[in-house]
Amino acid sequence: LSSIEVDLSMIEVGQAIKVKWRGQPVFIRHRTEEEISAAQSQDISKLRDPEPDEARVQNPEWLIVIGICTHLGCIPLGTKEGEPRGDWNGWYCPCHGSHYDTAGRIRKGPAPRNLDLPEYTFLDDATVKIG
Ligand code: FES
Repeated sequence: LSSIEVDLSMIEVGQAIKVKWRGQPVFIRHRTEEEISAAQSQDISKLRDPEPDEARVQNPEWLIVIGICTHLGCIPLGTKEGEPRGDWNGWYCPCHGSHYDTAGRIRKGPAPRNLDLPEYTFLDDATVKIG
């Protein structure tokens, strides 16, 4: 099984990148304080796929998700600067209008599940190994 190491030191707070892992896009977002508190303060009983933020991140600053919409597999927008991030400031899938929040949880639209999480390990403060 292949794994990749990603240098996080160049990703500023508020920025995100897309990397390729096992042929799939993986989104890595350096969350702002506001994005973290929005994710943590959400009442999960209101969610379609109820998961607390703590179950979706290892380090609150870094959200790492597989960048494939759980509806029919499009790649959501919201990683690059200027792309729409949807009504919850996470990601927006333009294929049929699914909105994900800053924890990658589905909030509106047809997707049935939150964005999937890859396996990953922080090797140090600035390096993550995915896979
Ligand atoms: Fe994303 Fe349908 S594939 S909303």
